[in-house]
Amino acid sequence: MILGVETSCDDTCAAVVARDGSIRSNVVASQGLLHARYGGVVPEIASRHHLELLDAVIDDALERAEVTLDDVEQVAVTRGPGLIGALLVGVSTAKAMAAARRLPLVPVDHLHGHVVASTLGDDPIEAPFLCLVASGGHTFLARVEEPSAYTVLGRTLDDAAGEAFDKGARLLGLGYPGGPALDRLAREGDPVAFDFPRSLPGQGLDFSFSGLKTALLYRVRDLGADESERRKADLAASYQRAIVDALVARIRQALDRQPDIDRLAIGGGVAANSWLREAVRALGPEVHVPGHELCTDNAAMIAGAARFTPALDYPDYLALDATARAAAA
Ligand code: KG4
Ligand code: ZN
Repeated sequence: MILGVETSCDDTCAAVVARDGSIRSNVVASQGLLHARYGGVVPEIASRHHLELLDAVIDDALERAEVTLDDVEQVAVTRGPGLIGALLVGVSTAKAMAAARRLPLVPVDHLHGHVVASTLGDDPIEAPFLCLVASGGHTFLARVEEPSAYTVLGRTLDDAAGEAFDKGARLLGLGYPGGPALDRLAREGDPVAFDFPRSLPGQGLDFSFSGLKTALLYRVRDLGADESERRKADLAASYQRAIVDALVARIRQALDRQPDIDRLAIGGGVAANSWLREAVRALGPEVHVPGHELCTDNAAMIAGAARFTPALDYPDYLALDATARAAAA
């Protein structure tokens, strides 16, 4: 059994995953509402709440998995990238738990967790596969030869797709977190009511979303407050369609350029988006769309990635540090 801990942003997460990839428990205590009044995640508040919640969340994960610490063979923890104070709470807790029992500790890259999320659960994907990770902080397409490593084929040059959702939602007055709210509103709107750009920069497989966000800003300004409010659902639908179209266009190109690969997975919070899920299912190859709970931040994907990551033995990990920035992939 692997106990996973994830505290890179504003969700306090713990999970128990077996070596075969079956998920025994996956607990997420969301701080979303606490941050909503500020319109975004406040790092210091996130760290403090992780500190308050993490022990209880770990207890809950063990209890739901019907195991005790005696059954845990490894502790896995998100080392980065993320908010440094938030990460430190998870890393310190995981180190202390592992050290107290002389267990090995596995430091996991958060993005690796999103990449391998679809190797977990009832319908696990097998490598090699192509993976789109689209979250609040990162958006990239990767070729996954083995679940232990991945090669980035293209990434966003500016905003992440989740950031485009959050900023768009804020412009439309939908509050935070914006992605799910925009997704809900878009269902009531017309996706071709407004023409927004689908930016596909260069010849490679990179993304760009900052122009789209600016286009929405100008459109809202041109329409004026009353008309924008009246046509909010159409704006949301057209904006969401533009983001999904850009993501799907790049996936299609990536599949064309990697003819030896016929399996596709999506991950990251934006993979919870209903239109994206629908669009990738229609793409043709064997597509793995994990459940929402495995797309947004969670600790099962961290324990899952630990299966493919070298463990550190006691006491080597006592000097382990969290890292705010992404490792070069
Ligand atoms: O992976 P994640 O939970 O955290 C990060 O690692 O960033 O992703 C969070 C992002 C946020 O930007 C959120 O608005 C977006 O995922 N998101 C969605 C949906 N659910 C979450 N975006 C679009 N549609 C959704 N249903
Ligand atoms: Zn994430």
